[in-house]
Amino acid sequence: MSAHDAVEVILTKRDRGELSDSQIDWVVDAYTRGEVADEQMSALAMAILLNGMTRREIARWTGAMIASGERMDFSSLSRPTADKHSTGGVGDKITLPLAPLVAACGVAVPQLSGRGLGHTGGTLDKLEAIPGWRAGLSNDEMLAQLESVGAVICAAGAGLAPADKKLYALRDVTGTVEAIPLIASSIMSKKIAEGTGALVLDVKVGTGAFMKSLDDARELARTMVDLGTDAGVHTVALLTDMSTPLGNTAGNAVEVAESVEVLAGGGPADVVELTVALAREMLAGAGVTGVDPADKLADGSAMDTWRAMIRAQGGDPDAPLPTARESHVVTAPADGVLTRLDAMAVGLAAWRLGAGRARKEDPVQAGAGVVWHARPGDTVRAGEPLFTLLTDTPERFDRALASLEGGYDIEPSGTAFTAQPLVIDRIG
Ligand code: URA
Repeated sequence: MSAHDAVEVILTKRDRGELSDSQIDWVVDAYTRGEVADEQMSALAMAILLNGMTRREIARWTGAMIASGERMDFSSLSRPTADKHSTGGVGDKITLPLAPLVAACGVAVPQLSGRGLGHTGGTLDKLEAIPGWRAGLSNDEMLAQLESVGAVICAAGAGLAPADKKLYALRDVTGTVEAIPLIASSIMSKKIAEGTGALVLDVKVGTGAFMKSLDDARELARTMVDLGTDAGVHTVALLTDMSTPLGNTAGNAVEVAESVEVLAGGGPADVVELTVALAREMLAGAGVTGVDPADKLADGSAMDTWRAMIRAQGGDPDAPLPTARESHVVTAPADGVLTRLDAMAVGLAAWRLGAGRARKEDPVQAGAGVVWHARPGDTVRAGEPLFTLLTDTPERFDRALASLEGGYDIEPSGTAFTAQPLVIDRIG
């Protein structure tokens, strides 16, 4: 005889009650084992979305998801560990230069990453554009690479927070992704189970992010920072702008190329700014002082670590990256100043060109994506290239062009333009 039954737990939350520790432990475990059915968990997830959870409930729910699987342990490493997690954005290639940069500063980076779904890109899809590179490592391989190279970017194994894997897939098809308690517990259960010592959260806010409003982003950040801190992980969050896409590219191979430019000491100013800001937070969280990550970009040591990291996972850092078979250039319709470039419009265009997938099992095109030749604040001239669209399948151009329509504004030369700050706030 079970301690609880699913209907009783659903009714408690439906009627705005607080779930007890034992109800939470039971329902998460029973769902993972298949005793609570998908339709029952869907109803509970919707009740949580509508009625919320207290801090105690969220912490207990996160703990139950961690307990559903294994916990990794990096305490045998000779250096401290730090990880970062982004809530997802367009052109967000920051993990690629950041992991080797922080490793070059003396902190090990165990970066478990995901694939893109919808308009946001996935780090693993980007790295798989590099010939030979593989995302799947065993826990022992991961530990060995952290010791020898200092940085690993790989897929989370099936044993880590299996309750979240099941629940995330269910939320995706039941309109229950955007519940702050469920997003926070989903992200933090994986990060706490992964065993990192320090964690920096990049909580995106704006049109291209999950959180469209600053208040929601702040609440999500605060919830995750509290969960991490309570679990003994040194956790801070930066709230960063995702109304404009990052850098000049969205796609897989094109974002790898842009990341390599950053590692070579160049690259777009916003990508460099955010990479260095997050690296500084990771080093501080890991207790490492006296090293400036900007110096490690300039002196080539971050690039050396990148090359070692790619090689250790079977990739060839010198191999040419795949290119798309077809391209289409969109030119500026008028002279003026680009005053707005919408992250969601660009993300949708890249996705429709084949850089992302509609269903988890779909393949992605390594060469597909969007390159933009101007950023907000730049002067543009009629007839000059504004975007280059890339794909292997030219029948995709029309839908990609449709998603860019209305996604940018060009105003007369001389129009005042004030750039929005990239890092909006810090919560820690
Ligand atoms: N990323 C996750 O891992 N989980 C969520 O719920 C949302 C984003």
